[in-house]
Amino acid sequence: MDLKQIISHCKEYGFIFQSSEIYDGLSAIYDYGPFGVELKNNIKAHWWKSMVQEHENIVGIDSAIFMHPSIWKASGHVDAFNDPLIDNKDSKKRYRADSLIEDELSKYQQKINKEIKKAEKRFGENFDLTTFQTTNPRILKYNDKIASIQSQLEHALKNNNMNSLKKIIDELEIRCPISGTSNWTDVRKFNLMFDTKMGAVSNDASKLYLRPETAQGIFVNFLNVQKSARKKIPFGIAQIGKAFRNEIVARQFIFRMREFEQMEMQFFVKPGDEIKWYDFWKDARMKWHKNLNLHLADYKFHDHANLAHYANAACDIEFRFPIGYKELEGIHSRTNYDLSQHQEFSNKKLSYFDAEINDSYLPYVVETSVGLDRLFLSILCGSLVEEQVKNDQRIVLKLPPHLAPVSVAILPLIKKDGLNDKARTVFNHLKSKFTCHYEEKDSIGKRYRRQDAIGTPLCVTIDHDTMHSEKVTLRNRDTMDQVHVSIDNLETVIKEKLGI
Ligand code: GAP
Repeated sequence: MDLKQIISHCKEYGFIFQSSEIYDGLSAIYDYGPFGVELKNNIKAHWWKSMVQEHENIVGIDSAIFMHPSIWKASGHVDAFNDPLIDNKDSKKRYRADSLIEDELSKYQQKINKEIKKAEKRFGENFDLTTFQTTNPRILKYNDKIASIQSQLEHALKNNNMNSLKKIIDELEIRCPISGTSNWTDVRKFNLMFDTKMGAVSNDASKLYLRPETAQGIFVNFLNVQKSARKKIPFGIAQIGKAFRNEIVARQFIFRMREFEQMEMQFFVKPGDEIKWYDFWKDARMKWHKNLNLHLADYKFHDHANLAHYANAACDIEFRFPIGYKELEGIHSRTNYDLSQHQEFSNKKLSYFDAEINDSYLPYVVETSVGLDRLFLSILCGSLVEEQVKNDQRIVLKLPPHLAPVSVAILPLIKKDGLNDKARTVFNHLKSKFTCHYEEKDSIGKRYRRQDAIGTPLCVTIDHDTMHSEKVTLRNRDTMDQVHVSIDNLETVIKEKLGI
């Protein structure tokens, strides 16, 4: 399904709404609806359980969104958390300079795809993709162009060189998609942090930032947590919480938001052991995503060639979203950069005494950082399918059962003849054991379709037979198979089918 279909599904079934919609919305800010919040809570719980509760050496915290402003100076966010911004003087539209260049790169990729399609038609069964890609002069020319632009772009971004970015835009004669002109301003740095004031006296000294990542709350609490939880290195600290970034380009639904949630874990290790642990977490996090067993899912690693000055290894786990392969999670070996910066700026020692070697050191850190909303989107994209059923079509959200917003829907066939009362009795019995949903409106067929679209793995139907047999019909979302189960045995069978 494309992103548009996913967005409209989210709205229709109460997963996600545009924030402040009745006031025409607020760009790149979203609200989670009744089923959205359940799914989001289940994703959080699943991450927390597997990252914190199932690891003896990882503990959690919940640090405040507001933090001392010097933290953001120390972390480098005040000086370097910038995106390159450019305006078109005719349309007055604002763009991220690097995104404009990347869009131009994708045009070359589209040209390559066109050439391949044409050749496939021309050569039919004799078409050999590899030979064509490595010998066709046009494709070679486009690939050279892509590689050359990419390397200039990476170089300019790494060196924070705004003039070089402008030069690439000029050389490629990139035009504004709205005005069609190349009447651009210079490229300027735009800091992504939102700021606000604390207290009654409003001056520069009272300026605070809304945190752009949750990680710094972990770094500044490192010794508090290590001592109070009595942890020995290697150990990790995890946190789930809101982060805020004033993104320039924010037009991809919940993929890039201005207010979002992160699930981060900083793993503190002995200097020298960081690459071993980086490889460990890289592997563990990829397995975690794959173990979700989404119906349609495709992941790959993107190893960073150009590392930030504080990192000695970094990669992204990318997911194939409808907008292409994009970053889902980042795994970074951040050396002891953050702890040493905080030690310097706070004037407080943050070193750890390692009894095994009878020496103190500043631990190195391997970080895993995933956006909760982006993970939510990947799970939706990997689960939402349109299926042909006999002469009909159905839309099914094939969510992993433990993440589904509703585990069991209880449906009386009709809302009379005592079926509804019986169904309510079943609902009241099950509601403390599973997330249940009672529904009696509309025909049973329509209700099944609605539960399919929400992702409910099991439906329990109470019909006239139930009244004397004490048996209900249990319907499976994916196979649509129906079996009769006695009410006495229902809880056990549901547990079995949900795999819990
Ligand atoms: N502490 C490291 C850090 O924040 P990052 O790569 O900037 O690293 C980590 O962000 C993850 O947070 C990303 O992989 C993505 O899943 C999520 N993320 C970042 N910016 C986001 C945004 N504007 N909207 C939604 N999710 C975002």
